[in-house]
Amino acid sequence: MLFIADIVGQPGRRAVKELLPKLRQEHGVDVVVANGENSAGGSGITVKTAQEIFSAGVDIMTSGDHLWDQKEVMDLLANERRFVRPLNYPPGTPGQGSTLFQAAGLPPVAIINLQGRTFMPPLDNPFPCAAAEVERLRRTTNLIFVDFHAEATSEKVALARMLDGRVSAVIGTHTHVQTADEQIFPGGTAFLCDAGFTGPHESVIGRQIEPIIRRFLTSMPQKFEVADGRVLLQGAVIEIDGDNGRAVSIQRVSEQG
Ligand SMILES: [Fe+2]
Ligand SMILES: [Fe+2]
Repeated sequence: MLFIADIVGQPGRRAVKELLPKLRQEHGVDVVVANGENSAGGSGITVKTAQEIFSAGVDIMTSGDHLWDQKEVMDLLANERRFVRPLNYPPGTPGQGSTLFQAAGLPPVAIINLQGRTFMPPLDNPFPCAAAEVERLRRTTNLIFVDFHAEATSEKVALARMLDGRVSAVIGTHTHVQTADEQIFPGGTAFLCDAGFTGPHESVIGRQIEPIIRRFLTSMPQKFEVADGRVLLQGAVIEIDGDNGRAVSIQRVSEQG
């Protein structure tokens, strides 16, 4: 399985188109999951950007706190089975917090998206939500992938530790900074605290540098445009045993476009 970290704007989408075929081949990838919360102009996701990413070879797309930035997302939430929003929104929220994907000749894989609550907008508690959803999904498959979109490293480690042995992988997103702590926990769950981001890296987490510095210097609002220049596709490749759902290996990806 290949997970692609937060795709930022047009440079991010271009990197996916350019690099995904090579990565698929190189690692013998069966399933591609990508976080698309920043794929439309750096904020949110539209039908058109989602289609562009799916046709580049992404099977399932997750999201996060930028979910609502483009009103067109309502269309995706209502109609797109390959699109997942954080599970821990209140009951009745449009869309789905998990989905199943089945590649030809392979067992089904469940993909869950969750959002953290530490230094983030309030949502339902992701811990009991995750536990209940994993239990429900394990009646169908023991291949379960979790994108935990959260700010605090402790919250991400804690959720992944709680799910150790019950899911194949927990990969963190949202900070856009790739961490170097990839590992497999004793129960067989692969973990990476943050997968980074896919987009322009001569930037401050994807945005042009100068306005961000100005914002920090002056505390005055600025327009944050998506940067350009050197582009990286970041994420992780996880090898999972199809029989028992345990992770065999996890490897960080940071590929220049
Ligand atoms: Fe985010
Ligand atoms: Fe993001």
